[in-house]
This record gives sequence, structure tokens and C-alpha cells, in this order.
Amino acid sequence: MEPATVVKTEETYRFAERVNRISASPTMVVLQAAEQLKSKGIDVADFGAGEPDFPTPEHIKRAAIQALDENRTKYTPVPGVPALKQAICAWHARELKSSFQPAECMVNVGGKHTIFNAVCSLINSGDEVVIPAPFWVSYPDIVKYAGGKPVIVNTTEADNFVLRAADLEKAITPRTKMVIANSPSNPTGGVIPPDEFEKILRVCQRHDVWLMSDECYSHFTYGSAKPFSVASLPESNGKMIIIGSLSKTFAMTGWRVGYALAPQPLIATMTKLQSQSTSNPTSISQYAAIAAMKGPMDSVPTMLAEYARRRERIVAGLRAIPGITCTAPNGAFYVFPNVSAHYNAEMPNDTAVAKLLLEREHVALVPGEAFGAPGFVRMSYATSMDRIDEGLRRMARFFSRK
Ligand SMILES: Cc1ncc(COP(=O)(O)O)c(C=O)c1O
Repeated sequence: MEPATVVKTEETYRFAERVNRISASPTMVVLQAAEQLKSKGIDVADFGAGEPDFPTPEHIKRAAIQALDENRTKYTPVPGVPALKQAICAWHARELKSSFQPAECMVNVGGKHTIFNAVCSLINSGDEVVIPAPFWVSYPDIVKYAGGKPVIVNTTEADNFVLRAADLEKAITPRTKMVIANSPSNPTGGVIPPDEFEKILRVCQRHDVWLMSDECYSHFTYGSAKPFSVASLPESNGKMIIIGSLSKTFAMTGWRVGYALAPQPLIATMTKLQSQSTSNPTSISQYAAIAAMKGPMDSVPTMLAEYARRRERIVAGLRAIPGITCTAPNGAFYVFPNVSAHYNAEMPNDTAVAKLLLEREHVALVPGEAFGAPGFVRMSYATSMDRIDEGLRRMARFFSRK
């Protein structure tokens, strides 16, 4: 006889309060539903994925194979192998005009892990962290996990979702410990112009708060926007943390390599934390990352040219749908159209729009509420032109129904 199923509640398990403060990534909810449809053989036009649809460049893969062949499969120093830290500092100096030393660098298990380590190393219970909205979903939850309080500053569609120093300054209080900037932004593709970024840095310096700059999409910029790091500004050292990732730039999401560039005492503290959690990032990935940092960068303009073509098509396609507005993103590989003009009794918010689009037209996208931006949806164009065209056709049909 089968044993009776005992229904266990959270009450039974008494999970730690710190994990109860956070939720599973909301972007996953729609994506899981899309996966279910795909597993039934349904043709889903999937705009959900936040990762390049290109393979990792050959020379990077070969470096990993060589590392395996050479048995580089043992523990490495916790903050990464010295040659990689050196290569990251040199790459960042060359590409983004900074001047960090290897002691100011550490390697983590992806950029998300870098952010986690930095926030957990700096934020005390009750500290405020200013986060511009629309925001990448993980920022508020990582802050909450650390016991901090996210303070949201809204940016606007009319201003291309750019964080303005004046708005930031209004949100700063004596409890503010950190400001997070993300340019180019996930989910909006918004890019903070360098002169505004300088003002943001000066606001942070004036109020003695940390500036965390997430540069994961630094090399995906369009039009007049160019790769830029706030660390290139004069007098930019001090309370600044640069977050980098190889995931997007080198199509290496699964390898899990990210890095921090920050003052040495913070790097030492983050290293202490990492020494008691993951230890070193995967050794083989680190050797592949050395090849990425030191090798040819030609895969980047190739990917960028393709993203630029898709961006044109998707922005034009969305704007052609009556009632939808869509700013032209200056970076990353997302568009963030406003769908609120289509709300009705059956579809009163963006979550309902995403749900019905998936059910009726098998189009997967992420509701803006997940990013603190009701009224919008996020679509990734890291998918083929054919799929973009198909998705746009389905969306046009969906939104023309009354
Ligand atoms: C804005 C932003 N920061 C950081 C990350 C983390 O990337 P990874 O952990 O793969 O380096 C992502 C991934 O989607 C992102 O969109």
C-alpha cells in the first residue's frame, strides 16, 4: 500500500526568514509555461529568453578543451586565477578605459553572483539601496535577502528610461548605502548618456554612497551610444563597484563567469564571503574566460550587427500595431513596449496580456510588473528574424481582436 501523502507546509519546514523575503525569479513563470507548450509540440514564438542565441566563439571553446586536456580541473584561488584577473583588468582598460589592478578584481560564478557577493558584503539590515525602475528582477530580491530596503526611482518611457541624477538625488536619505545603475538596461535597453552618468557618480560621491554599475551589456549599444564605463571618469575610484559578465558579450551564459572591479578592501571582503560559499568559479570556465579576454573580439560586432537588424525590425513591427508604443532601445537586446492601451475587462494588466498572448497566440514574453513597470512587456530579440516576424504577425492579430 502506498504511504499516505503528508502535505507539508512552509510551517512544517520553517524555512529561514531571509529566504522567505525573496521570490523565485518572476521571469521564469511565463517562461516555464512556454516550455510546457513547447514540450507538447506547440510552436511558440519565444521572446522570453535573456540570453544570446549565438554559440560561444570557437577559440573560447578550444581553450576550455585545452584546459581539460591539461588537467586544469583542480581548485583555483578563490577570487580566480591570477592570469584571468590580469586579463580582465587589461580588457577593461582597453575596452572601457579604466585602470584597475588585479588586487581590485575578483571572478565570480556569473555576474549575478558578483552582485550577490557585493550586496551581501555591504548591506546591513535597514540600509536603503536605490534602484531605478524598470529594474532587472534580481536587484530588489538580492537587496532584500541581505536585509536591505530597495528604494525604487522611476524612469519614464518619454525619457527612454534613463536614470536622471536629479531624480536619484531626491531618493537619497541618510539611510542610503548604495545606488544601482544598469546601462544598457535589462529590461528596457535604455542607456545612460556619459554626461548623465558623471552626474550620477557625483551625486553618489556627494552623499558618500556606493555606486554599483552593472555593465553586463556594455558592448551591445546602437546608434550614437557607445560602450562606456563610469570607471573611465576621472576621480572615479572610491565607493564604486563595476559588475561585469562574460555571459552576454561572449555568448557564455552557461559557463558562469562574472567579475567585480572594486576597491581592494571590498574585493577582500567579497573573497572571504565567496571562500565560504562557492569557493572558486569553475576552473575550466576560467581558462576559457582568459581566451575570451585576450583573444579576438570579432564575434562581438558580428552579433551586434545581427541584433541591430532585429532591433530595427521588431521596433518597426511593434510600432505598426495600433495602440502600442515602443521606444527605440539604445542597448542590450530587449524592447519594452507599452501595451496598456489594450487593457480591457478581460485583460486588465500586463500579466493578463502576457498570459492571454501565450494561451491564444503562443507568444511568450515577460510582463512589465516583474520589472517594476506595469503597463509594459519585455521582449528579447535574441531570436531569429523568422521568429521575430512570426511573433509580430501573431501579436498584430491578437491586438486587433476586439
Ligand atoms: C542586467 C543584468 N545583470 C546581470 C545579469 C547576470 O548575468 P550572469 O549571471 O549570467 O553573468 C543579467 C542576466 O540576465 C542581467 O540581465
